[in-house]
Amino acid sequence: MNATDLFPKSLFAGKTVFVTGGGSGINLGIAKNFAALGAKLGICGRSQERLDGAAVELRALGATVFTASLDVRDYPALEAALSRCKAELGTLDVLVCGAAGNFPAAAEKMSANAFKAVVDIDLLGSYNASRAAFPHLREQGGCIIFISAGQAFTPYANQAHVGAAKAGIDMLMKDLAVEWGKHGIRCNSIVPGPIENTEGFRRLGRGALGDKLTETIPLRRFGNVDDIGGCAVFLASPLASYVTGTVLVADGGQNLLGSGVWASIAAQTT
Ligand code: HXC
Ligand code: NAP
Repeated sequence: MNATDLFPKSLFAGKTVFVTGGGSGINLGIAKNFAALGAKLGICGRSQERLDGAAVELRALGATVFTASLDVRDYPALEAALSRCKAELGTLDVLVCGAAGNFPAAAEKMSANAFKAVVDIDLLGSYNASRAAFPHLREQGGCIIFISAGQAFTPYANQAHVGAAKAGIDMLMKDLAVEWGKHGIRCNSIVPGPIENTEGFRRLGRGALGDKLTETIPLRRFGNVDDIGGCAVFLASPLASYVTGTVLVADGGQNLLGSGVWASIAAQTT
């Protein structure tokens, strides 16, 4: 059962949702949930080819789509894209900050630039998008959804760069919730667990471990993009109109066991 089966198809009619990194994976899954519920979509990422493919999928769901090829580390590019999106689609109501980069690397082995690259894409990119969206969101109120990760609050080996970036995102989210609440802008984070068929899972899920990793998850299954899309729909919907500054963890309970279980299974099988 998905959000698109439960909510009226017009839930986001007349609203525009802009998703950074919306050309693939979890972020595209989120965009598709909004498209199926009547929203217009703006998506950005570096690869125009990827955005074009995503736009075909979103238009097939009935959405009007705006795409912008850009790097979220480039503030002027984001500012220009959000203004063009607003001008073309008429309004900007929801921003999803999903663009991110990740690779496993030991803290003492990665270069300073490797650490910086991830912090710049994830944390600075989320700030850039929020800052550039602010003048549009404040016009009628709206919401920002940050895509965080369990690394923000559970320490994992080989994830120092990601943990720092995602923890920063969750604190940024809370600070903006405090500052921008008076403008009717709600800010929340979603923490996805291991989501199957995504680039992040391929990079960190250590494909060879396969289904054994479900032992690290109390609900005993990997997540799917609609599990996260449903959370985003809820947070952007009127059902969450009094919800701001919160971290919504959608990980099948994985964080409750810490990273030790994951690490020991990885050690047994690699
Ligand atoms: C060590 C690495 C590395 C690796 C890159 N670097 N890959 N270091 N191990 N595997 C280093 C480079 O040598 C360089 O340092 C620095 O990082 C920047 O590399 P660039 O290639 O110039 O960076 P850039 O082109 O900006 O690419 C960013 C990237 C890349 C993060 C490195 O992987 C990327 O674009 N990823 C986007 C897609 C992605 O990662 N999706 C997964 C998101 S999942 P030097 O010193 O040589 O200059 C996620 C959480 C998942 O975020 C949680 C799952 C459970
Ligand atoms: P993904 O498909 O690789 O998504 C990342 C997206 O961000 C891509 O579309 C990528 O497109 C874009 N992007 C990367 N760097 C960018 C930059 N500098 N500027 C603009 N766009 C950029 O990976 P995913 O696994 O679905 O991850 C999506 C989100 O979920 C991320 O925030 C990730 O941290 C989070 N997450 C994922 C998991 C998981 O299990 N997969 C778990 C926890 C959290 P381009 O390369 O074309 O730019």
